[in-house]
Amino acid sequence: MVKIILLLFPLCYFSCVKESGEIQLVELKTEYLNNPLGIDVLSPRLSWKIKTTSDDIINQEQKAYQILVATTLEKLAEGNADLWNSGKIISAANKQITYLGSKLNSKQKCYWKVKIWNTETNYTAWSEVAKWSMGLLEDSDWSAEWIGGQPDLAQKEYKDILADYDPNNSAPKNMLPVPPSSPMLRKQFKVTKEFSDAFLYVSALGYYEIGLNGNKVGDHVLAPEWTDYNKRVQYQTYDVTQNLENGDNVLFATLGDGWYLGMLGPTKWHTDYPRRGVYGNDRRLIAQLVINYKDGTKEVIDTDKSWKINSEGYIISADNFLGQKIDARKIPSGWTNSEFDDASWTNAYVDTGLQKNLEAQKNEPIRVFNAFSPVEITEIGDDFIVDFGQNLTGWTKLEIKGEKGASLKIRHGEMLNEDGTLYTANLAAAIQEDNYILSGKMDVFEPSFTYHGFRFIEVSGLNQSLDEKMISAIAVASDPEITGSFECSNPKLNQLWDNIVWTQRNNMTSVPTDCPQRDERMGWMGDAQVFCQTSMFSMDMAAFYTKWIKDIRDAQSDRGTFPDIAPHANKPNIRFSNAPAWADAGVIIPWRMYQNYGDKEILSGHYDAMKRYLENIRRQNPDHIWLNDVGNNYGDWLNANTIIAEGYSNERGEVPKDVFATAFYANSVKLFAKIATVLDKKEDAKTYQLLYEEIRNKFNAAFVDENVRIKGNTQSAYALALNFDLLPMDKQTIAFEHLIECLEEYDYRISTGFVTTIMLMKELVRRGRVDIAYQLIESERFPSWIYSINQGATTIWERWDGYVKGRGFQNPGMNSFNHYSIGAVGEWMYRVILGINPSEKNPGFKHFTIKPQPGGTLTWAKGSYKSINGLISSEWRKDKEQFKLDVEIPVNTSATIILPVNQNAPIKLNSKAVPAEMINRDHNMDNETAIDLGSGKYAFEVYYND
Ligand code: BGC
Repeated sequence: MVKIILLLFPLCYFSCVKESGEIQLVELKTEYLNNPLGIDVLSPRLSWKIKTTSDDIINQEQKAYQILVATTLEKLAEGNADLWNSGKIISAANKQITYLGSKLNSKQKCYWKVKIWNTETNYTAWSEVAKWSMGLLEDSDWSAEWIGGQPDLAQKEYKDILADYDPNNSAPKNMLPVPPSSPMLRKQFKVTKEFSDAFLYVSALGYYEIGLNGNKVGDHVLAPEWTDYNKRVQYQTYDVTQNLENGDNVLFATLGDGWYLGMLGPTKWHTDYPRRGVYGNDRRLIAQLVINYKDGTKEVIDTDKSWKINSEGYIISADNFLGQKIDARKIPSGWTNSEFDDASWTNAYVDTGLQKNLEAQKNEPIRVFNAFSPVEITEIGDDFIVDFGQNLTGWTKLEIKGEKGASLKIRHGEMLNEDGTLYTANLAAAIQEDNYILSGKMDVFEPSFTYHGFRFIEVSGLNQSLDEKMISAIAVASDPEITGSFECSNPKLNQLWDNIVWTQRNNMTSVPTDCPQRDERMGWMGDAQVFCQTSMFSMDMAAFYTKWIKDIRDAQSDRGTFPDIAPHANKPNIRFSNAPAWADAGVIIPWRMYQNYGDKEILSGHYDAMKRYLENIRRQNPDHIWLNDVGNNYGDWLNANTIIAEGYSNERGEVPKDVFATAFYANSVKLFAKIATVLDKKEDAKTYQLLYEEIRNKFNAAFVDENVRIKGNTQSAYALALNFDLLPMDKQTIAFEHLIECLEEYDYRISTGFVTTIMLMKELVRRGRVDIAYQLIESERFPSWIYSINQGATTIWERWDGYVKGRGFQNPGMNSFNHYSIGAVGEWMYRVILGINPSEKNPGFKHFTIKPQPGGTLTWAKGSYKSINGLISSEWRKDKEQFKLDVEIPVNTSATIILPVNQNAPIKLNSKAVPAEMINRDHNMDNETAIDLGSGKYAFEVYYND
């Protein structure tokens, strides 16, 4: 603050109110999204970030803000905020500011800008203009109807056949009736007046691709994304003003099976539930094109029976697991243009029996975000094996001219067998196979209604050689912004970082999935909670989880259990519910949302659901040991006991399930007590704090003996109990010693499952053995993170021993090479190597700590996190004598920097000795010096005492 006061004093002395050019407002967002169209939050929350225009401006804060919201750009420019003028609000809040203006109507356009005061008297220029628009808010706003082909009776019968299905005797894929081709739909119309703009509101049961006058609308793929379609279906809003023509126009669409009709994951384990068609039997489209004319009138083109349909479409079949088959001979030339004659097409079927349940899209869409050319093409017999160099989620694009009617096949896999052929044994019933029939002209094959997890493909049936220019791999994912970066002096850790981020993206197809390749691809909650802090460091997950937490609620059972998978797609009252550590994601992830983004609304919206969840466990387990209603009780999944490798014990990995479950119960109750405190629900806060203490006491009485041995005596038991603070203070040191002994028994290798590995890493650091944690993360021995990298991994493997040199692949029934759980160590890399840590009491990185803890072979590391408040960065370099740290603290936040030297060591800040009064004397840890700072960029140099 000192520097700024000195700088401004002469200027402000006579004229005390002034516009400051030192501060800029950027990245204005509405409900976490950039300029979203068609939202349905009635009082949307607005956020912005604050930047300085020069690096030497420090200690900047927001003292007040003013927001203007107007119905048109012109009005906003004139300062005529006809929707909302917040006035000057004295507040430091720059995120989740609830819109408090006039009531917003369906389709309302809203333009907004903000300015802030950074001192009592200095204000900034107005920000750039941002915008949002409202969607269709009332059911009655949907005049369009669900349309598609005639009801498919075979699909319906299939559900009956399934009653006799025996999973041990028949491959499910053979049971599936072939669904009819994907319907193609068209609607011709004329625009006879001058229009000002046009918006398309659209959704489908199944997938849709929609276009106007020859061009696909929008950049969404795999829309409308996955929700529990019985409860809600997301719709999307597109601005199609640029696509609309005066005169003749045509809307055109194709439909696919998607999650609505296609094969889904865990239904494979149950005979009484269909493998396909869980939500319905028929693909349906709903669309409403609203054209606003310059004369003030408007016109709406709805899906209705006047739409034309071709049920003999060129997409012969398309399923997420099975792949897509396209017959290019059947693509009617010019069918997406208005000149096309669709007289031979029939009228669409209007499905009046369906509810609408439509809700606006809440999360960033799934989009294409990258493309890869082959790094190697190998010929094996008549086939080609292509390596794209990166394990990814998506599909391939093939451009080819060949003989009419010739067919070719592309199979997708993550690995190669030792003979160089494609490894597909781990895909189970997901065959990931695209089939193409050539038209004889130049064809461009790119599936639209399936996705695969792959790095390699096998192309067969090609009667010509495969040139690298003919084929590329297209990577798709839900597309929030990447917020993390990481680099250090160990290139293998850099690869690990990359693998973690890739695995996250590969498993974001509108829900966080376990894997993108085999026949599961479900929103497994245990994996998600373990990984969620890493995910939030790497990407802006606020909107993604806002949507998914709702999916979790949709899957809550009647008695209150949270699901193991969301969306559930099965019977939450009966199965896949309430597994400890899986169901607990329903409490943990909202809490992490609050911690990372300061989002209280997530907590209040989910509050009753969390309470019901905990009350059910309490009711079923009156003496506080969680034994009843534990569902599938997966335990510390994929711990050492499941590893098959010579010289590695597979007996001492698993923490007993009662210990595991009770620890998670205690933790969720503790978090809920904190949540109640945040929401000012004092009674609940007290009740659940007491309950937590009772569970904790019971945990100690039942599982911890007089020598502080925790039942099972495994690495994981100690990591879990310590990480959840379940042991009394006086027992923690001994428990930690036992943890070290358990590590020693494994020759300092990991025996934990994917749930407790990150806890182990964090506890090692918290309790002073950062050296062992580095030893583990830099280890190249089996099992370790780097072991997989040394085998060429470009993503995180499901199992430490997915592939072992000399032994080969693990059990193909469960052997994904694209599973993020073990990658939860990304959180550790952030918190320990870069040292960036949120502060529980100051959520949303309003205050945070930067405490890099160098160790292992590392001599430098640098990285950053684009928090909801702006960019935080940390870069350090060390040698024997010196440690240098450069940090960046965003405007309107503060940080505590913790340097790895004692308070008497010489410390320089920006090349000058740090004044003694800057040192925070309350922080009196050995070999640590704490300095509290406001926003700005700072460079520290410290010299180790010898
Ligand atoms: C999934 C896991 C999941 C688990 C439940 C597996 O098949 O792939 O990641 O959490 O089932 O234990």
